[in-house]
Amino acid sequence: MMGKELTGRVALVTGASRGLGAAIAIALGAAGAQVVATGRNAGGLEETDDAIRAAGGLPASLVPLDLKKGDDVDMLGPTIAQRFGRLDIVIGNAGVLGRLGPITHLPAKDWADVLAVNLTANWHLMRTTEPLLRASDAGRAVFVTSGRAARPKAYWGPYGASKAALEHLVVTWAQELATSPAKANVFDPGIVRTRMRAAAMPGEDPMTVPTPAEVAAKLFPLCLPSEMRTGEIIGV
Ligand SMILES: NC(=O)c1ccc[n+]([C@@H]2O[C@H](COP(=O)([O-])OP(=O)(O)OC[C@H]3O[C@@H](n4cnc5c(N)ncnc54)[C@H](OP(=O)(O)O)[C@@H]3O)[C@@H](O)[C@H]2O)c1
Repeated sequence: MMGKELTGRVALVTGASRGLGAAIAIALGAAGAQVVATGRNAGGLEETDDAIRAAGGLPASLVPLDLKKGDDVDMLGPTIAQRFGRLDIVIGNAGVLGRLGPITHLPAKDWADVLAVNLTANWHLMRTTEPLLRASDAGRAVFVTSGRAARPKAYWGPYGASKAALEHLVVTWAQELATSPAKANVFDPGIVRTRMRAAAMPGEDPMTVPTPAEVAAKLFPLCLPSEMRTGEIIGV
């Protein structure tokens, strides 16, 4: 493991069972980090673990959980503290698009689910990981937003609102973390060749869209101890 830039560091990634989160987990694992991978789909998490090992990384710690269950998210920090004694990198990547449609026509459950996963779960993630991130010599948190946060569009209301609120929360948290070495930033991935993108744009040729690995490589520098920006919204 000598020479890998994240050797000795522990990284938590949400939505690591597929798509962009899986690619981020693989990039962090390949760089030597001990990855803690979460998502609901255990099979998907195992595929991510296989890919990390194939890239020469440590076996990942797999934590299947539903981010809509705040009490389960609250257990992540204490569990990681007990198992690894530290946490250096937090990636709040998991997200849902929800049903696209007129705001006033949406079932209440759809609204609640999008806000629960895209916003409230990340608040739980912040509070459960903050003690460990503060204790790290280079705590780095990155939350994945969407260009939709700044560009409202008909039929995308809950998704755009959840991401706009997430950005506000992350920038606020970054200011609060400034009494420690920890940094928190927002990453806008642009468009990514994933299941979510295919659901949003069914007519699009996926081959014209950047791969998760290509986009993960752009997020990766925000996880390094050398990253000094904080409270910023950083696009691809
Ligand atoms: N693709 C794009 O073009 C694009 C553009 C802008 C922003 N983004 C953002 O990028 C991030 C990653 O999206 P993606 O494109 O990779 O989407 P994706 O392929 O649909 O993956 C979403 C991930 O989130 C997890 N997730 C969803 N609901 C969950 C829940 N209730 N509990 C736990 N995990 C849950 C999924 O895991 P399980 O199903 O296993 O739970 C999956 O790993 C999202 O925040 C998205 O908003 C994507």
